[in-house]
Amino acid sequence: MTATAAERAAMAHALEVARRGPRGLNPQVGAVILSPSGEMLADGWHRGSGTPHAEVDALSKLAPEQLRGATAVVTLEPCNHTGRTGPCAQALIDAGVARVVYALDDPGVVSGGGAERMRAAGIDVESGEQADAAEALIGDWLTVQRLGRPHVTVKWAQSLDGRAAAADGSSQWITGPEARADVHRRRAAADAIVVGTGTVLADDPALTARDGDALLPHQPIPVVIGSRTTPADAAVRRHPHAPLFYSGHELDAVLAELRERGVQRVFVEGGPTLASAFVAAGLADQVLAYVAPVLLGGPRLALTDIGVTSIDEAHRLVVDEWLPLGPDLLAIARPLTSGENTSRNEGDA
Ligand SMILES: NC(=O)c1ccc[n+]([C@@H]2O[C@H](COP(=O)([O-])OP(=O)(O)OC[C@H]3O[C@@H](n4cnc5c(N)ncnc54)[C@H](OP(=O)(O)O)[C@@H]3O)[C@@H](O)[C@H]2O)c1
Repeated sequence: MTATAAERAAMAHALEVARRGPRGLNPQVGAVILSPSGEMLADGWHRGSGTPHAEVDALSKLAPEQLRGATAVVTLEPCNHTGRTGPCAQALIDAGVARVVYALDDPGVVSGGGAERMRAAGIDVESGEQADAAEALIGDWLTVQRLGRPHVTVKWAQSLDGRAAAADGSSQWITGPEARADVHRRRAAADAIVVGTGTVLADDPALTARDGDALLPHQPIPVVIGSRTTPADAAVRRHPHAPLFYSGHELDAVLAELRERGVQRVFVEGGPTLASAFVAAGLADQVLAYVAPVLLGGPRLALTDIGVTSIDEAHRLVVDEWLPLGPDLLAIARPLTSGENTSRNEGDA
């Protein structure tokens, strides 16, 4: 049986209330309880780490007799493990719910399997209802579960001849206003913006997301990696969020800690050293290269050593989009995966 009209409406509402929860370490999840005749009895959502999950929040608003034979509509598969809260699958079984409709499977190794548990207990379970909308809502969280770390975008601006700065280290501004406005919009979509100490000392960037002089509503947390001290009067210290400083060079450790803070999307805007370190470590899920029609020559290449000594070791990318931005061109690229092919691999050189 597919979802009924009442269940479809309930899922739309569950997706709506899910948004009230915080975005971060835990997924935003919403739930609705329907009576056997399809009447909406209660809704619930997850308010963050350590608080009741959405299903339990909704269940708690009703008397036991209202729950027997009811239908629970949830945006994510009810979980199957005991963390800081008990397993939601068991809570639904104990409540005597007859049917559960959910949107997305729980990708967690420990938390998944709720659907199986409920089916084994005799509950009628339906999955996939409005899965696309649920995926749009918690896609970043799902990516973090899949990667085991936040998603990383590495961005740089370069001259047509592949330089990130002039010989004296000045790089403001290689690209034009359209490209810079695009960078600010993308900064605002990230949870953290990461640079190396080299960039802080050379450019004193504010690391805010702006529209002209105005701050955009969402600001990424500024993160500085490197052992050198950031000056007391550095612009980054006036950022709306307190900057995070990591003195080591261990990128995995930094990403792990950012994940613990609920960071899902990282925007790396460091100079060539940090960008190269992320690429070399295989930690660049997306590359944004803003290419400007200017020649700089000299030694300051956009990337330095990324561990490629022979062409066979090249980091091959797929460009998903070439985006013209005024006089500049943005390549939005990601690593080529083993299943994908490029025309470069076909035919003779
Ligand atoms: N065109 C662009 O898009 C763009 C963007 C930003 C900057 N820039 C230009 O780039 C230049 C600065 O370049 P940069 O390469 O020095 O900047 P950077 O990459 O931001 O900083 C490099 C520093 O980061 C630290 N670091 C942190 N993690 C590291 C790791 N895993 N491996 C190695 N080092 C790590 C090291 O500092 P410690 O020694 O302190 O540990 C290193 O010297 C400036 O001229 C600036 O204008 C251009």
